[in-house]
Amino acid sequence: MNLKKEIVMSGIRPTGFLHLGNYFGAIRNYVKMQDEFECYFMVADLHSLTTHPDTKTLKANVHRVLAENIASGLDPDKVALYCQSHVRETSELYLYLNMLDYKGELENTAIFKDKVRLNPENVNAVLLTYTVLQAADILLHRAKYVPVGKDQEQHLEMARNFANRFNHRYGNVLPEPHAFNYNQDLVKIPSLDGTGKMSKSENEMATLYLADTDDVIRKKVMKTKTDNGPTEPDTPKPDYIENIFLLMKLVCKDDVVEKYEADYNSCTIRYGDLKKQLAEDMINFITPIRSQVEALLHNEKYYSK
Ligand code: TRP
Repeated sequence: MNLKKEIVMSGIRPTGFLHLGNYFGAIRNYVKMQDEFECYFMVADLHSLTTHPDTKTLKANVHRVLAENIASGLDPDKVALYCQSHVRETSELYLYLNMLDYKGELENTAIFKDKVRLNPENVNAVLLTYTVLQAADILLHRAKYVPVGKDQEQHLEMARNFANRFNHRYGNVLPEPHAFNYNQDLVKIPSLDGTGKMSKSENEMATLYLADTDDVIRKKVMKTKTDNGPTEPDTPKPDYIENIFLLMKLVCKDDVVEKYEADYNSCTIRYGDLKKQLAEDMINFITPIRSQVEALLHNEKYYSK
């Protein structure tokens, strides 16, 4: 029986270094999907040109994102991993889709309003049609599922509208794409300073990057906020302590987490020891990825066509 796999497509902007939030929120889902689906994962260099017109660092950034994804477990022999601008047909489909979208609806997208507010000097036409280019990425592959975060739901709704309009005008060719996530597995990684989640642009000291060295990881983990510990057995954990336990659950062995849970509940917890343990386990988790990224970045053959 030849059951054709369903098609999955997603894009990653080549801005900045990937962090633990990207790893557990996105990449880990891609890795899970690669056996079950026909996957297309793309580095969105054209999208990044809409806001970062300086091309000097673009190539290095594209290479780094590719290397970080491969080192995190994406297998280029199983998935199509490509650079957006290399697939010219995307731009061609974008042109056709642009005959089906309207200025009013594009001006109303959250992303356009945000970008105009942040950078009123650079309101270019492709910025206005950012979601149309994204729809072209997706529809080109006739993808059914798009693993993305909540912030991209509106873009998918627009992609569905464009697909329907295209079908209405030219015949039934494009399926509707839908957002996909592994629900409960979509862990939000808290930032180390206890404010919000890890993010590329905010406080660097509160974010663990896949490129961080052992010393940097140690320093960041040791700086996380704790207190004197509970004085009553079975006290609920304050948020900043809950966050540390969440990080432990991601990288420490179960019995280690259980030991510290028990220490917490019996008011004998020593946060200094806990953080040392977390730092070492975090290093054991990140270091192999970081080393593989470095090795890949020195292996030109990976990036040649
Ligand atoms: N807009 C996405 C982001 O900001 C990146 C992206 C470009 C994308 N093309 C895509 C995501 C296609 C999913 C599918 O992260």
